[in-house]
Amino acid sequence: MEKPYIINTHSHANMLRQTNIDEAIKAAQAENIITIVPSSSGEDIFEVDKFIQKYDDVYGYVGVFPEEVKTFTDKTLSDMENIIKTNNKIIGIGEIGLDYYWDKTYKELQKEIFIKQIEFANEMNLPLNIHSRDAHGDTLEILKKYNKNSTAIMHCFSGSLEFAGECIKEGIYIALGGVVTFKNAIKAKEVAQNIPLEYLLLETDDPYLAPVPYRGKENQPVYVKYVAEYIAGLRNMPTDEIAKITTQNAERIFNLNAE
Ligand code: NI
Repeated sequence: MEKPYIINTHSHANMLRQTNIDEAIKAAQAENIITIVPSSSGEDIFEVDKFIQKYDDVYGYVGVFPEEVKTFTDKTLSDMENIIKTNNKIIGIGEIGLDYYWDKTYKELQKEIFIKQIEFANEMNLPLNIHSRDAHGDTLEILKKYNKNSTAIMHCFSGSLEFAGECIKEGIYIALGGVVTFKNAIKAKEVAQNIPLEYLLLETDDPYLAPVPYRGKENQPVYVKYVAEYIAGLRNMPTDEIAKITTQNAERIFNLNAE
């Protein structure tokens, strides 16, 4: 494997609708960008398993997203374990976490499933890709209490600089995507500008949240380079340097060293 330019730590490349998926993956490959695709439900883990085997430089996470906790069954963890054991491109558990924005009805169930998946990741010795929306306090509290040995990543980080500091103190990484390029995203810019670079990761969360200059259009994996470029501008550094440091961070977390 050639040394990757950027590692996109969160891309739903399998969910692109307006963009041809093969073309989008090719565009990322052409720029030496590695794409990591999360699962969202108890059924989706099978789709991601198949999807990532189709392409070079595409890896995946298995996990059940907070909005999909009702799809988590007695056999979900053993299904995940089977996939992990048969597909060495599964390199983490995600996206998992808490989301109190859309629905508070399932708060307790969300916590229960989140904890079960943290404990499972610990057993498998795999990192965690975490979704937290309007639930920062509970997310961090649960991680502190239950996470023993998995490196955690706050995906699409939406907290304050102060909260980023609390996460970093616990060894948690901060992943930023297209939102940082939005004019009104003051908090995200402040985080991007001030956190230690050895805790920064890049992502797209496509097909959502396309960075400027594609804001409002369908996002895609290769647009992670605009996120790198924007953060480089904020920090007054060359884009290649942001790409290099964030790639090293991701390689460390995922054991993705170029052979
Ligand atoms: Ni996502």
